[in-house]
Amino acid sequence: MAMGLSTAKPYHRRLFLLLLRCTRTAEPSPKCPHHRPLSCSSPAAAAEATHLRRIFRPGDPNRFAPGILDAFWGVRRFSTSVDPISGGDKNLERIFIQNMSVKPIVVDGVDAVPIEDERKEEVDTVVADVEEGKEELCGGKVGDLDQLEGGLEVRQEKEQSEVEKEAWRLLDRAVVSYCGRPIGTVAANDVTAANQAVNYDQVFIRDFVPSALAFLLKGESEIVRNFLLHTLQLQSWEKTVDCYSPGQGLMPASFKVRTVPLDGSNEAFEEVLDPDFGESAIGRVAPVDSGLWWIILLRAYGKITGDYALQERVDVQTGIRLILNLCLSDGFDMFPSLLVTDGSCMIDRRMGIHGHPLEIQALFYSALRCSREMITFNDGSKNLVRAINNRLSALSFHIREYYWVDMKKINEIYRYKTEEYSHDAINKFNIYPEQIPSWLVEWMPDKGGYFIGNLQPAHMDFRFFSLGNFWAIVSSLATPRQAEGILNLIEDKWDDIVGRMPLKICYPSLEYEEWRIITGSDPKNTPWSYHNGGSWPTLLWQFTLACIKMGRSELAQRAVAVAEKRLPIDKWPEYYDTRSGRFIGKQSRLYQTWTIAGFLTAKMLLENPAAAAVLTCDEDLELLQGCACSLSKNARIKCSRLAAKSQDMK
Ligand code: GLC
Repeated sequence: MAMGLSTAKPYHRRLFLLLLRCTRTAEPSPKCPHHRPLSCSSPAAAAEATHLRRIFRPGDPNRFAPGILDAFWGVRRFSTSVDPISGGDKNLERIFIQNMSVKPIVVDGVDAVPIEDERKEEVDTVVADVEEGKEELCGGKVGDLDQLEGGLEVRQEKEQSEVEKEAWRLLDRAVVSYCGRPIGTVAANDVTAANQAVNYDQVFIRDFVPSALAFLLKGESEIVRNFLLHTLQLQSWEKTVDCYSPGQGLMPASFKVRTVPLDGSNEAFEEVLDPDFGESAIGRVAPVDSGLWWIILLRAYGKITGDYALQERVDVQTGIRLILNLCLSDGFDMFPSLLVTDGSCMIDRRMGIHGHPLEIQALFYSALRCSREMITFNDGSKNLVRAINNRLSALSFHIREYYWVDMKKINEIYRYKTEEYSHDAINKFNIYPEQIPSWLVEWMPDKGGYFIGNLQPAHMDFRFFSLGNFWAIVSSLATPRQAEGILNLIEDKWDDIVGRMPLKICYPSLEYEEWRIITGSDPKNTPWSYHNGGSWPTLLWQFTLACIKMGRSELAQRAVAVAEKRLPIDKWPEYYDTRSGRFIGKQSRLYQTWTIAGFLTAKMLLENPAAAAVLTCDEDLELLQGCACSLSKNARIKCSRLAAKSQDMK
């Protein structure tokens, strides 16, 4: 575990030194100016490209003046202290970031504090580290995988097919640059939809993940490194929706590189990054999954390139902690799963997945596993690691036990008694058997099962959601037996889940009254379209990962073959419609980047299955033993963890 163990430096000290360094750089931060929008590739501009400026929106009283968070190193120019949280996850440290969303932080007198001689050397070392990191971000020092020690050997030797060549051309065309450096990929490059781009001209965090993996597996790491560091800067952005500011650890759903006149001039321009945290998104939904994807990608980047120094940086460690702080903070909830609003993930419109949707829980579990590996272990972080372990343990038990359905479980639910008021109720969530949908009675195969979409008091959402089930396998949230069961179900229900285009985002669709009430009569999410039972080829790479992990690559091969025949002819659509995925989606964008990148990543993983390990996690049996209930002498508290564990032994 914890690869950072041996290299750990005292965390408090480093933060202090960073703070010290930051106050010394109080002079105006360099920008990335250029005189024509297209000429910002001048070496001078590129060399200064480490800085962000927020866009000032006139007339918005809640917006602060431009330039406040403009320096990369200034973004982390805050005081950081570590205190225990009271109540709930008692052992979790909380990082307080002072004043960050209001004013630039000026720490008076820090320069005047005398630095003891023996620490002066350390100050200089950290200053040098900071300078070096700054240079790396802009200059893309991390180069070839060949030059990195410990990186995964992933070069593809095989001759590419024509389809792959086309996909690479399109993926390269989707690359977005910021001050002359690659920073991400645009969501779609659909010229036919130029006038209705909506926000498809932005770099989405979740959409970039398959692009990042394709680039990394090809040996191109600079774009991913830049992406990780620049989105980290955006994490600290001031964000407001109607006078309310959401949590500091929030990562944006997407961002756009804009070219704006420099200081009111018509001659000079500069590039700025403009993030969307949900404050412009349709429905104003916060993207809970963005931070989780960021953590998952950070770990994969380290494993593929061997550049572990990136995740050990103080600002990156702080970024991880801020995301975890948001996720692990106490609330009113009784469950270890994350409570979110509708549309807070890939399904970013109203689809009745508010509450505890499986997709978020599986990504959360995965991000916790990845963080545990990356957090630099020391006195300052041990409580956080303990809190992560506790949550992992509780979450895996909760999902394995209560979200899992197969024939046996459905039959149990069918015979449930209701209104049981007691600690040892069998029907803990008071599920009425009448909720079992008629489609499921026929659909559930004898062999296999899956995790349901959501669990709430008196409510089980029995729809099958692909992404959540795939990530449950990939992260080992599912037991090996459950993981096997999910793939068995997909094989058995191939026509429903893969059909003519892999893969259904969820099965089945909501129809009639359900569609009207649950989606709010959403014309984009009509039955068997878009999020409501549409087919999304981007899910291929995640399915491939799950198959490789379970030694069932042949299933992924079959699905990739289905997609490969149609995607280039259909111009790489975002999604497909109809029950079997026969039509290109009604409002589907063409040349959708994550369709292209998902296909390439799936192909590359199949050619190099060992690379799947950079994203997967193995079963951790210790997590099942670390149950708080077992410490209690209280006979009323009944825990069925051992049952869950032994289920796997059967
Ligand atoms: C749609 C999808 C979302 C995706 C975005 C950009 O809003 O629902 O998951 O990130 O398009 O492709």
